[in-house]
Amino acid sequence: MTMQSAAPRSKRILMVGAPGAGKGTQADAIAKQFGITHIASGDLLRKHIADGTTIGKTVEDIVNKGELVPDAVIMDMLRKPVMAASDTGGYVLDGFPRTVEQAEAAYRTAGNLGVGVQIAVHLEVPEEELIRRLLARARGADDTEDVIRHRIKVYEEKTRPLLEYYASRELLLQVNGARPVAEVTWSIIVQLQRAFKQPKTHVSAVRQATADKAVA
Ligand code: AP5
Repeated sequence: MTMQSAAPRSKRILMVGAPGAGKGTQADAIAKQFGITHIASGDLLRKHIADGTTIGKTVEDIVNKGELVPDAVIMDMLRKPVMAASDTGGYVLDGFPRTVEQAEAAYRTAGNLGVGVQIAVHLEVPEEELIRRLLARARGADDTEDVIRHRIKVYEEKTRPLLEYYASRELLLQVNGARPVAEVTWSIIVQLQRAFKQPKTHVSAVRQATADKAVA
């Protein structure tokens, strides 16, 4: 590849959480706070579906059933926006990676170019609250109760293992997402500001301290 590595001070953040945990809501606030780009894999997929593109036609049925879209489609779709955002201040990624396999693939390509994730933020929210929020939103075919429950099951099986993955490689921030939106935002921003001030060598210690503190 001939792409350049990221601007040295770019901020690269990843949101992890179950459907309805508030990843999109909080990613918007984080992006505004730090002047970086919010990249949401689900929003990009829904745009492809609405526009009737080849990708959209390939993924529509999968998204409506709450299954995961094949890794190759996701990687192709995200490569350009992630590289562009890394060169212009950084990104907050919402909805990707969804599996350890996606994280490893991203690490192999993005990590080598210096555009890999620096900090993962985990939003924890109880299942009944997730279902309540998504039924109230009713975004489309994937916000019906059966599909919501299936999406949560897919999250538990395929995505939750990412927490261990990031805890062992990057800084993982644990946040209680079952509070009012502004309170969750404040908690995330305070923790991110603190984390960005830490020299790289202190990352493991901070990660451990964060884990010890449990859910902030
Ligand atoms: P995606 O769009 O990523 O859906 P999701 O992960 O299920 O997330 P949601 O958008 O439903 O929830 P969120 O956590 O972002 O919460 P939000 O802020 O919106 O993916 C959709 C589909 O695309 C997947 O099922 C899959 O098929 C496919 N896909 C996407 N990425 C993929 C990948 N990498 N690999 C394979 N397939 C992929 O908030 C939800 C609601 O709650 C809103 O109404 C909001 O106002 C409200 N809310 C938020 N915070 C609070 C709060 N603190 N208190 C009260 N209400 C709140």
